[in-house]
Amino acid sequence: MEPLNRSLDVDWRLWPHDIRGSRAWARGLERAGILSREEARRIDDGLAEVAARLEALPGPAGLPEEDIHTVVERMLIEEIGSAGGKLHTGRSRNDQVATDFRLWGREAIRALGDRLAALVEAIGAKAHENPDVVMPGFTHLQQAQPVPAAHWLLSRAWPLVRDLEHLRAVLRECDVLPLGAGAVAGCPFDVDREALAADLGFASISENSIDTVSDRDWAARLLFGAAMTGVHLSQLAEDLVLFSTSEFGYVRLGDGYTTGSSLMPQKRNPDVAELTRGKSGRLVGNLTGMLTVLKGLPTGYNRDLQEDKEAVFDSVDTLGVVLPAMTGAVSSLTLDRARIAEALGTQILATDLADHLVRRGVPFREAHHVVGELVRVAEDAGRDLGQLAPEEMKAVHPAFAKDVHAAFDPVSSVQSRAVRGGTAAAALEAQFDALSRALEGAWEGE
Ligand code: ARG
Repeated sequence: MEPLNRSLDVDWRLWPHDIRGSRAWARGLERAGILSREEARRIDDGLAEVAARLEALPGPAGLPEEDIHTVVERMLIEEIGSAGGKLHTGRSRNDQVATDFRLWGREAIRALGDRLAALVEAIGAKAHENPDVVMPGFTHLQQAQPVPAAHWLLSRAWPLVRDLEHLRAVLRECDVLPLGAGAVAGCPFDVDREALAADLGFASISENSIDTVSDRDWAARLLFGAAMTGVHLSQLAEDLVLFSTSEFGYVRLGDGYTTGSSLMPQKRNPDVAELTRGKSGRLVGNLTGMLTVLKGLPTGYNRDLQEDKEAVFDSVDTLGVVLPAMTGAVSSLTLDRARIAEALGTQILATDLADHLVRRGVPFREAHHVVGELVRVAEDAGRDLGQLAPEEMKAVHPAFAKDVHAAFDPVSSVQSRAVRGGTAAAALEAQFDALSRALEGAWEGE
């Protein structure tokens, strides 16, 4: 039973929050007239001593207790004697652990958001550095239409801004005081929970003691956010893996983010991206695990809930490592303009060719068909679409103009899509502005 029962190795990191919550509880008991001023002062001093002792310990190894709450209580009684036993009046480990976890959660969410915001900024800066590189845009991983490389990069920043918006909502949900809910039915002493919330900096207090001791929704939503971010990072990582192959060669990662092979001297392996892609698996797994723990719980507190912390700590720790690494990797990457230009065939301008006909009055459906025919003609002749002469095109449809070859230009193709969210220079400028505003709205000041 002992190793099963023990959560100390996991919840050790909650000790500063357990001390903080306990000092606030002692003040609450004093205000309620349960502790004398002298008793409250001794408990407060004792808890400061306990904090100093815990600070000096390398970790929980060798401590006999089952969890951090019992460690703190034992040490408090060692420091100030049996008066320390008054601290747990009207409190249960059920509302205590819920409080500690949320105190930790608020800090963890803020730190996570800062790291996510830093990655968004790094992607934005990299996009800014490369305003005039035009690369293939893909659908079905087939070359589709030309796009600015900056547009591709920014397409990987927007999902992370949405993750930040989610995180901000999780922060609000986490920022609710559980203390005072007791084991399940509330506290029988006249503790002012509003004052406790103010003391601990919580934005509000929970309204139902049964719900309070069993609610881990904020943690599940944090795990969802982490899993979603994991998926987004994995997609960005996959782009980097693919684009840094010798087959693509669009992207080169900085030396600090690739490794050589112990066997093959030519290798530049994109480990940072592969590890990031791999880590997304555990982020999704942690969410699945938590939801599975929660789904069968009957009313009130159940010990199953002890499983909550390991999953959340792991997801937060994982992103704490992955996000800075990806931020560095993105900052380090360079685009190989020559390889990208080489990759852009004229085939990718087929849609522009159809648009050329549309501008000359041909219905799009017909234009689409005509250009499809030209693609076939070019393929049969073993030539590129852009190598067909205007006369050959006119033979397929009379609406082609003499200057039709002006359409075979990736830059004017990109410039022609000037709609908001499109690829023209002005649209891209507006996108940069929108991104910094969205980032500010989603996170700055949290
Ligand atoms: N160790 C527990 C946890 O990590 C603390 C709450 C235990 N409550 C109880 N009634 N045994 O969640």
